[in-house]
Amino acid sequence: MGDRRILLLLVLVLFSALVSFVGAYEEEENDQRTQGEKWFLLRQLHNVVKTDAGSMRMVKGGYRGGSHLHSPMHIGFISMEPNSLFIPQYLDSDLVLFVHHGEARVGHIYRDELAERSLKQGDVYTIPAGSAFYLENRNENQRLRIICSIGITSESMGWHAFQSFFIGGGTHPTSILAGFDHTTLSTALNVSTAEVRTFLTRQSSGPIVHISDSHHTNIWTEFVSQEPHQKLAHLKRIVNLEEEVSPKEEESTWSLRKFLCTLLHRKDVVKRVNHEAPSSYNLNNRNPDFKNSYGWSKTLDESDYSPLQQSGNGVYLVNLSQGSMMAPHVNPRAIEYGVVLKGTGRIQIVYPNGTLAMNARVREGDVFWVPRYFPFCQIASSNGPLEFFGFTTSARRNHPQFLVGRNSLMQSLRGPEFAAAFGISEKRLNRIANAQREQVILPSSSSDSPMRMNIGSY
Ligand SMILES: *[C@@H]1O[C@H](CO)[C@@H](O)[C@H](O)[C@H]1NC(C)=O
Ligand SMILES: *[C@@H]1O[C@H](CO)[C@@H](O)[C@H](O)[C@H]1NC(C)=O
Ligand SMILES: *[C@@H]1O[C@H](CO)[C@@H](O)[C@H](O)[C@H]1NC(C)=O
Repeated sequence: MGDRRILLLLVLVLFSALVSFVGAYEEEENDQRTQGEKWFLLRQLHNVVKTDAGSMRMVKGGYRGGSHLHSPMHIGFISMEPNSLFIPQYLDSDLVLFVHHGEARVGHIYRDELAERSLKQGDVYTIPAGSAFYLENRNENQRLRIICSIGITSESMGWHAFQSFFIGGGTHPTSILAGFDHTTLSTALNVSTAEVRTFLTRQSSGPIVHISDSHHTNIWTEFVSQEPHQKLAHLKRIVNLEEEVSPKEEESTWSLRKFLCTLLHRKDVVKRVNHEAPSSYNLNNRNPDFKNSYGWSKTLDESDYSPLQQSGNGVYLVNLSQGSMMAPHVNPRAIEYGVVLKGTGRIQIVYPNGTLAMNARVREGDVFWVPRYFPFCQIASSNGPLEFFGFTTSARRNHPQFLVGRNSLMQSLRGPEFAAAFGISEKRLNRIANAQREQVILPSSSSDSPMRMNIGSY
């Protein structure tokens, strides 16, 4: 019984989807489409960090236009000049990094030890919420570009954005340590208050700094050139403050401990020898999970790369050859985010009520998102391939449900009931179903129209 109802629902969705794809080029739904673009195309980039040495920008998640549509992720773009450092910080959100261009060195505290990893183009790496980390671009001539997902968790403190807690810092950015009164810090660090003041005001060039020779007065230049165990000591010297703070400073101690516990997950810190911090995963080296003459797609979930389990994200990369399209499908398990890496094309999204929500032209750098259960498809323009990368909100295998194609619902549901649902004969339905020889990625159509399916013309 339950199965029947689900089938019927899917039939309705499929029907609606087809109707709206057919109607995609009718102009009357213009207003709704503009609204759809506002909701699903995330073009408003906000500056999070901007310095001489680099920037971090992001598109924000949250509720869309006061609707019930909740986008649970921010998508960030980090750009770092050659020889630069994103100073140590921790976030209140899980971070999944993807190296789009260049090389990076990432350091983070993993089970009380500093793990440093070199990342190259195509690498995926995760940093759990509350884990202190820094990013470096040591390359002399290459800019580093990273695309990241920042999950908004229920514990996130960010109302409108995620929160960075800079461990290092001075007047800009402000170190979290600056919040404590200087007497407390002076006791904790075992240095004079004058020293504390200096310590907390030296750094003023923002969260991303140059580490080249011309800036060698910077305390972070020193940090970068340290051996990993010295870096850890550096981070820990700050972290271990709490043990030395006098009991009188109760309030400060409490918040200091609270911050620092978050920082190191102290509760579950058991000194482990030979621990293995996760290594990165290279998407470029992965064989496509699906491939035909019209393109390929790669998907990465926790079964391939277990660190994704922590953040609960999946990652994917798709390349559609010119004019090809990803067959209309729905994600029954996950919300999907996409970033156009190369080329131009269209993204079509359909509301569950069967009206077209968006039919937007996209270009390099555009970010779109698709809520769970919303039918959609991506189409490469006729003048070149469309390459896009993205995140999903499920680390489990995401079984997209294709609505059209040889592996689709249309094939598995064919029969008298399905024909009746469309009000056509079974023979006609079979003719339509049999016309679909390809699956997942479909060839280009001769006209510019993405789908020439016209049910009424038989
Ligand atoms: C503070 O520094 C002094 C002199 O350098 C040293 O003797 C003392 O043991 C230190 N105290 C702590 C708690 O580290
Ligand atoms: C994507 O496919 C096109 C051919 O359609 C190819 O030229 C291009 O190199 C591919 N991109 C990647 C990253 O493999
Ligand atoms: C379909 O749903 C969308 C989003 O909820 C709404 O804006 C639109 O008016 C609906 N269209 C119809 C025909 O019900």
